[in-house]
Amino acid sequence: MKILGIETSCDETAAAVVLDGHTLLSNVVASSMDLHAKYGGVVPEIAARSHIESITPVIEQSMNDAKCKWKDIDGIAVTCGAGLGGSLLVGVLTARTLAIIHKKPLYAVNHVEGHLYASFLTTTSLPNYTLPVNAPQFPVLGLIVSGGHSQLVYFRDHFDYDLLGQTKDDAIGEAFDKVAKILGLPYPGGPSVSKMAIKGDPRKYTLPKAKMPGKYDFSFSGLKTAVLRLAQKECGKLHDFPSTKLSALLSDAQKADISASFQRVAIETVVDKTVLAFDQFQPKTVIIGGGVASNAELRAQLTDRLPLQILYTDTKLCTDNGAMIAALGCFKMKLDQQVADPYNLVISPNLSM
Ligand code: KG4
Ligand code: ZN
Repeated sequence: MKILGIETSCDETAAAVVLDGHTLLSNVVASSMDLHAKYGGVVPEIAARSHIESITPVIEQSMNDAKCKWKDIDGIAVTCGAGLGGSLLVGVLTARTLAIIHKKPLYAVNHVEGHLYASFLTTTSLPNYTLPVNAPQFPVLGLIVSGGHSQLVYFRDHFDYDLLGQTKDDAIGEAFDKVAKILGLPYPGGPSVSKMAIKGDPRKYTLPKAKMPGKYDFSFSGLKTAVLRLAQKECGKLHDFPSTKLSALLSDAQKADISASFQRVAIETVVDKTVLAFDQFQPKTVIIGGGVASNAELRAQLTDRLPLQILYTDTKLCTDNGAMIAALGCFKMKLDQQVADPYNLVISPNLSM
C-alpha cells in the first residue's frame, strides 16, 4: 500500500510517498523559512502564499522520486490541523481535489499525532537517512516537542491513546525561538540556541523549572521570562529595558552561557516528566517527534536517564514533513480508520490530540 502524504500546517510545503507505513519512498520539503527569518517568526500570510507557489511542484517531485504514477497510489493523507488556517487550507484543498480527480480515499491527519509516526519509518532507499532499525512496539510512550506543541502521550495501540499532559502556555520550541530573539540569534531559534550552547557553560546560571499541578503538564513561559530578566541583569539594566536592545550589549560568551543554561533547564523539564511517565507506565518503546526532537541535548539526556534504547529517527524527519503524514495515513488505511469526505473535509486549526 502506497500513500501520498501532504503537509502544509506551518511554513513547510511537504509531500512524501510511504509504503506500508514503514518504507520511505520519497520526502520533499520546500520551506519558506528564509522569507520569515527577517521577521523573527512565521508570517501566516507569507506562509500561505508560498504554499500556493510550491505545492504542485513539491507533490510532482515526491511522485517522481518515488517512481510512482497516480495508478500506484492507494490513498492520500493530509494534515487538517493543528496549524495556521491559511496554510492548512492550501494543503487540504489540494488533497481534496486530487482525491476527487484520481478517485483515491482521503485521510485527515492530526499533525501532532503525525510527528510520532515518523518513528515508524524503518527503511528507505533514499540517500542520507539514518532510520531506526526496529519499528516501535506497543505500548509506546510518545513525547512531542515542537514549535507549537509539548505533549506526553501513552499509546496502548494505534489510535488508542491517552494524552498524559501538555504545555499550559508556550511550547518548548517556541521558548527556544523566543530566547533566540532575546539573544539576537537567527530564526529558527532551536538550532541557533543549541549551536551557541555548545560553547557555553550549562551550569553558569540557575534558571527556574516550572512546578505544575498536573503531573505531566509543562510550562515554558516562566523560563523564557527568567531568561529575559537574566539578560537584563547581565547588561546592568532594569526590567523595563527593551528586549530588542539586549543582544547588542551581551558578549558572545554571555550569550553562549545563557543558551547553554536555558537549554539544559528546558530539556530537563521534558526529560523529568518523560522519566516519570516511563516509570509509571512501563512502555516497551519511547519515541520522540517534532522539531525539538533533533536537539542533541534532549537525545543525550534521554539516553542517559531511560533504561531502554530510544528509537531516534533522522533529524530531517523531526521537523515538519510529508513522510510522517503518509506513514500515519498508511496505518489509517490498514486499520480501516474513517475516510474523509473529499467534498467536505474542513481544516481544524486548533485540533488537539
Ligand atoms: O515540528 P516543527 O518543524 O514545527 C511545528 O510543528 O511547530 O518544529 C519547529 C520547532 C521550532 O520552534 C524550532 O526552533 C525547533 O523546532 N527546533 C529545535 C531544533 N531544531 C528545530 N529546537 C531545539 N533544538 C533543535 N536542534
Ligand atoms: Zn510540526
